[in-house]
Amino acid sequence: MHEKKLHQAFSGKVIWLTGASSGIGRAVAIALSHYDCELYLSARSSKNLEQTASQCSSNANIHLLPGDLCLKTSNQAICSSIQSSTGRLDLAILNAGSCEYVDLDAFDSSIFEQMMQTNFISMVYGIESALPLLEQSDSARLVGMSSVAGYIGIPRSEAYGASKAAIFNMLSALRVSLSAKNICTQVICPGFVATELTARNDFPMPALITAEKASQEILSGMTKNHFEIHFPKRMSLGLKFLALFPERLRFALLKLSMKHN
Ligand SMILES: NC(=O)c1ccc[n+]([C@@H]2O[C@H](COP(=O)([O-])OP(=O)(O)OC[C@H]3O[C@@H](n4cnc5c(N)ncnc54)[C@H](OP(=O)(O)O)[C@@H]3O)[C@@H](O)[C@H]2O)c1
Repeated sequence: MHEKKLHQAFSGKVIWLTGASSGIGRAVAIALSHYDCELYLSARSSKNLEQTASQCSSNANIHLLPGDLCLKTSNQAICSSIQSSTGRLDLAILNAGSCEYVDLDAFDSSIFEQMMQTNFISMVYGIESALPLLEQSDSARLVGMSSVAGYIGIPRSEAYGASKAAIFNMLSALRVSLSAKNICTQVICPGFVATELTARNDFPMPALITAEKASQEILSGMTKNHFEIHFPKRMSLGLKFLALFPERLRFALLKLSMKHN
């Protein structure tokens, strides 16, 4: 990764990062803190946010703004704090989310409601609150966390995958519409990353990477202008390729993969 490019991209920037209390978000916070930036970190747990801050470099000014991002009012309060302190946002990384799988023996709509609320609607609230601040920046970037699980329908991921597909679709449209306001929109699609979220998985996770490796991919991707930041390539390109298969073959392969899990 080109250190000079990273400095140019993040030094002097005002950054809001959600889901910074653990996993990928914590690793991204630590990586960004090496640059001289104003870093606003959000998640529900103040205690875990403090732990993230304690691992950050002193190069950045760290501000903790805890809150439940499923509430519109929390997003508004956080952005109004940023507005009062700096009056603008250069980069919003909306990463907070969770994952629940669907159990076909107890098909439960509340899992779908929870996934859409925690992953998709909370991001919509974040965008709504962040947009006026991003519009005050002369190099604004809006980055949202999706997943390779949003590319195709994966058994048990019916709810999680749908929320991530919704995010991908929304951000694709915003990529075009927000370009009129000079806001660069990007989507992050990781494969499996070792975090608290995946520690609960009871199946093999191919091409699993660390949160630190994921953070390097994300920082590097945010120095470029490509829409999609996807990694590790052996996982993301594999699934993109699978999505191109004729449907009978694709469904047969997915059925086969279920037998091996
Ligand atoms: N790990 C993977 O393999 C993987 C792959 C693809 C995509 N992703 C996505 O990456 C993102 C981060 O996941 P992770 O793996 O790093 O999991 P994680 O360690 O469980 O982190 C999730 C983060 O989201 C925050 N969060 C969850 N619900 C929230 C809420 N209602 N309000 C505010 N913050 C909330 C959590 O903080 P609090 O609990 O303190 O609120 C935590 O900081 C998620 O969107 C996930 O879907 C992960």
